[in-house]
Amino acid sequence: MVFRWFGPCPCFTSASDTPVTGDQSHVLIVEDDPQGRLLLERILETEGDYEVTAAASVVEARRHLLNREYAAVLIDICLPGQSGIELLEYVHAEHIDTAAIMVTGADDRHLIDEAFASGAFGYVVKPYRVGELLISLSNALHRRELEMHNRSHIRELEEKVVDRTRALRHTLAPLGGPVLPPIAVEEVIERLSAALTVRHEESGAHIRRVSEYSALLADRAGLEAPDHERVRLASALHDVGKIGVPDAILQKPGPLTPDQRAVMERHTLMGHKLLEDSDSAVLTLGAVIALTHHERWDGKGYPAGLVEEAIPIEGRVVAVADVFDALTNDRVYRRAFSVEEAVATMAGGRAKHFDPNLLDTFLESIDAVLAVRERHQEPARMPSGEEVTDAHPVP
Ligand SMILES: [Fe+2]
Ligand SMILES: [Fe+2]
Repeated sequence: MVFRWFGPCPCFTSASDTPVTGDQSHVLIVEDDPQGRLLLERILETEGDYEVTAAASVVEARRHLLNREYAAVLIDICLPGQSGIELLEYVHAEHIDTAAIMVTGADDRHLIDEAFASGAFGYVVKPYRVGELLISLSNALHRRELEMHNRSHIRELEEKVVDRTRALRHTLAPLGGPVLPPIAVEEVIERLSAALTVRHEESGAHIRRVSEYSALLADRAGLEAPDHERVRLASALHDVGKIGVPDAILQKPGPLTPDQRAVMERHTLMGHKLLEDSDSAVLTLGAVIALTHHERWDGKGYPAGLVEEAIPIEGRVVAVADVFDALTNDRVYRRAFSVEEAVATMAGGRAKHFDPNLLDTFLESIDAVLAVRERHQEPARMPSGEEVTDAHPVP
């Protein structure tokens, strides 16, 4: 492997010249070739003034990443065992404050696109110039700093909203009665749903249909009228936690890696966190549904692996509605099932994925279900790629 060394670039600005957020000096190198690793270490330590840790494999790199925070990680793509792209996806999902740059001999357009889609901040092709490498690293650290500022600003705003809401509750508590009138609750639900739809376009019609299917099933299953109305409103928030899932995962058209799936599955916990502790019965029910709509009757669901009636009935209702809707609509990764195929697939999940009584009731009500579907159709998509479900495992 031949590297050209042109000495320090005169226009290079070291990371230490700029105001920093967090530690900008620790860099992890992941390179299996000992010569290439040594060269990177020397360049970064002597020309860039960075503190460098080196790893020869993905396993070793993950161990280092768990031990301390790194400002950046330089990743070779061809590594023994897991690939550099898998490490990149892990860093993007689990170490959001670490900037990842690919340093590789692979000068391939598709690979470059894949790396940027998976969260890379830079891509340097070997043989590289020293200046080129240092500028890429400096740019990545600058972007990291901006993104960290941005995230901390959003966190501050969120904390302010929580504080002000708490203060408002305190002020209104002596007046008695619910803090939020029903109309305000509906508006909160609409706005949260709209926020998710901005992030994830396919959620809009899905939310409306799941909400209507859930109300219908709650009604047919014998819940009291005020309860199925609450289910209709609260089930619109079942996926609201996806607001907290990174774009690279939420909008990924292809299969999710195990790490990405684990991040996606946290939408249940995030949705619950967002809605819990409300004075509104509807938002509190929304928290329960967000948390439990991926639990399964046989205990193989997530996040808690609850079994049968330990799963709140509203979570079991939404599980049926959610999977039916996921199956009967096109997604970017697969075409819609026909109604017959969807019904057969769901019947296969009776007493495994789904509460058997609720599933029977839903399938017996299929004409009413299809009427709801007709009213809330979405435009056809052009699916491509391999089938994968975001978080809707079907038995
Ligand atoms: Fe979900
Ligand atoms: Fe959903």
